[in-house]
Amino acid sequence: MKPVVAIDGPAGSGKGTLARMIASHFSFVYLDTGLLYRTVAFLNAPLTELKDIRKLLDITAKLTEEQLRSPENSARASDIAKNPEVRDIMTHLQRDFIQLYNEKGVVLDGRDIGTVVVPDACCKLFVTADLKERAKRRFADLKNENTTFDEVYNNMKLRDAQDKSRKIAPLTCDKTYIVIDTTGQSVQESFKICREEVKKAFVNSGYGSFV
Ligand code: CDP
Repeated sequence: MKPVVAIDGPAGSGKGTLARMIASHFSFVYLDTGLLYRTVAFLNAPLTELKDIRKLLDITAKLTEEQLRSPENSARASDIAKNPEVRDIMTHLQRDFIQLYNEKGVVLDGRDIGTVVVPDACCKLFVTADLKERAKRRFADLKNENTTFDEVYNNMKLRDAQDKSRKIAPLTCDKTYIVIDTTGQSVQESFKICREEVKKAFVNSGYGSFV
């Protein structure tokens, strides 16, 4: 079994970008678990159809960024993510993904990766930043003329509240996480900090050969 890196944090914190960079640096496989929730939200798929992680990944790959990341679908994803049945199925699918790639090493990012999906991951990062800065980054990413900054900001604020307050698998951080606050940092600065933290965690958990 190769190492698993769990990355959690709120929207726009930079966790996706950092997760991709960490995966690429260590030649691990990356799973954006938020995209899976977004796909389920977009399709409004019956839960009985969600049995195979490979199938779900294939469907996700066929949808566009706009379909998946629009403010409407973001709000829908946060909504369906409150449903305990959805969460249970998604947790199993994410664990199937880890099994599938356990010879390669896996980086997953989301909201409950280090608390529910893989609580024993050898490295857990909690990536965060100020709400205003996160909304600015998301607004710049969207490049959608039909969306205003205020819409993005309010949508994010609402999702933060929903993700943190839901009964099942809320977004939360405890002392098993290393907190990375990316406010005011460039991507390269944050990546450098994350990379060093991941290396330290690998060494501490007997995965020193990956450093
Ligand atoms: O990219 P961003 O951080 O805005 O969101 P995302 O990671 O794509 O996730 C979209 C929504 O799915 C979040 O607001 C969460 O409500 C939900 N989600 C979750 O509950 N658990 C996860 N592991 C990943 C996403």
